Amino acid sequence: MKVYFDNAATTKVRDEVVDEISGVLKNCFGNPSSTHSYGRSAKSFIETSRKSIAKILNCEPGEIIFNSGGTESDNSILKCAVKDLGVKHVISSKIEHHAITHTLEEIENKDVKVHYVGLKDEGEVDIEDLDRLLRSNNEPKLVSLMYINNEIGNILDVKSVSELCRKHNAYFHSDAVQAVGHYPIDLSLLNIDFLSSAGHKFHGPKGVGFTYINKSTKIKSFICGGPQERGLRAGTESVHNIVGMTSPDKCSMSFFFCFTASSCCCSCSCCACSSFILSASLFYAQDGDLLIQQYDKNSIDLEFYRKLNFEVFQL
Ligand SMILES: Cc1ncc(COP(=O)(O)O)c(C=O)c1O
Repeated sequence: MKVYFDNAATTKVRDEVVDEISGVLKNCFGNPSSTHSYGRSAKSFIETSRKSIAKILNCEPGEIIFNSGGTESDNSILKCAVKDLGVKHVISSKIEHHAITHTLEEIENKDVKVHYVGLKDEGEVDIEDLDRLLRSNNEPKLVSLMYINNEIGNILDVKSVSELCRKHNAYFHSDAVQAVGHYPIDLSLLNIDFLSSAGHKFHGPKGVGFTYINKSTKIKSFICGGPQERGLRAGTESVHNIVGMTSPDKCSMSFFFCFTASSCCCSCSCCACSSFILSASLFYAQDGDLLIQQYDKNSIDLEFYRKLNFEVFQL
């Protein structure tokens, strides 16, 4: 038996998802923008997926924009915030994913300044320092901080950050690639403008994801082309991948969500929940293999698994 300790890098696609995807590939080849029945059928699959994500995150279906995954989502929000919203200051952290840090390097110039919020010893965002940065001037600002860190598993105090952003009239983006599907998120309770997610982190296919864009926040498409996704993401939608990411009832996302929702001791955003997330990921086993989210190397006793004759793979 093998143990895979790299679920934060990617997860195994669930068998139901593979079946769902091949069904769509075989039977639903229409272009969702076509007005004939093949196209309309493809479109209806996409809209059903959109509704199921919106239901899980408690937002409106029109606020979910499908794309190719976390990297595209992160890039598009940072760049569009500068281009379309006139953002002059981006506040982020040094421990964001490269999809954020490298994009920040690219957008920083004489008109756009990037500020890195202070972090505490264990990687938590220093809220007082964030408050200081937000107060520093009255120019338009975007805060981009990840919901759950992909290496150390810290969970951002999203509620406090979102309240601070509202108080200082700053836009708030959260890279929730490691959170969606693993952790309960209720967008109706949070002042979040943008949220990024990717299907392959919660047992869906690779190369598909979505951005939540709050309906009151107006940005334009990041790439030029057709009017897909209500003009917010050009390019023919990857219907089979979208369905695979969100197929109702069998969807990995709702699977995890149900599990987390019923097992979580609290609905707060505190760091104590990290261990809970770990156990949520431990829960998933298929074909005799155990798949584990390796957020915190120290919290996993590798010897324990070796003694049980698991083959252990580690980053
Ligand atoms: C926190 C975080 N953001 C962004 C990404 C990039 O997502 P994708 O692989 O879908 O482009 C990842 C993937 O490793 C991630 O963990």
